[in-house]
Amino acid sequence: MVLKGIILVDYYRDFAAQFIAATRGVDMSDAQERFLEALPRLNMPRILDAGSGSGRDSLAFRLAGHRVEAFDASPEMVDATEVFSGVPTRLMRFEEFEWDHEFEGIWACASLLHVAMADLPLVLDKLAFRLVSDGVIYLSFKLGTGERTKDGRRFTDMTEESLRKVLDLTAGLTQFQVWLSHDRRPDKASEMWLNALVKKA
Ligand SMILES: C[S@@+](CC[C@H](N)C(=O)[O-])C[C@H]1O[C@@H](n2cnc3c(N)ncnc32)[C@H](O)[C@@H]1O
Repeated sequence: MVLKGIILVDYYRDFAAQFIAATRGVDMSDAQERFLEALPRLNMPRILDAGSGSGRDSLAFRLAGHRVEAFDASPEMVDATEVFSGVPTRLMRFEEFEWDHEFEGIWACASLLHVAMADLPLVLDKLAFRLVSDGVIYLSFKLGTGERTKDGRRFTDMTEESLRKVLDLTAGLTQFQVWLSHDRRPDKASEMWLNALVKKA
């Protein structure tokens, strides 16, 4: 577990500039709109950007007028998010997640995919603990089955069926919207993503 974490942090440290350049401009407006639409109706909902990377989505949610906080396991990504978005960002891993207040929405874009399949139910339960009832989590994984390592990063791939099995192991998260999308980066356009919105019952 520790070794996996070191490999990941090394990747996002050693390739920080390239990763930020490749992902900061990606158009996530479709998923962002679905997520915002699904949040409990509230003036200025609280959103947590979980595994915030370059800070692209933290900035979008902040500019849309929401109260946003973020965290990431990589110090380089924490800095990138804070500098780019102005959103307070903590250094934290999903596996050790804890927070001091609740959120209406948690945005986990292409980040839970680095958590081992066996750890996902507990991680999701911890996130759900900091969601208000009817709160929503957006999550996305590369479409596929099983776990693999590529370029020093480990991935848990997901299908709708395997996601349903993971959610069945959580205390109270139910899936209510699932859709597929193509990777928006031109050099990865053939890769497919599984996107989901899940709700705390
Ligand atoms: C593929 S990037 C996605 C970044 C951003 N959400 C986006 O959509 O561009 C994965 C991010 O998750 C972070 N990450 C990886 N493992 C993590 C973990 N165990 N806990 C928290 N963040 C993690 C990485 O540092 C990286 O910023």
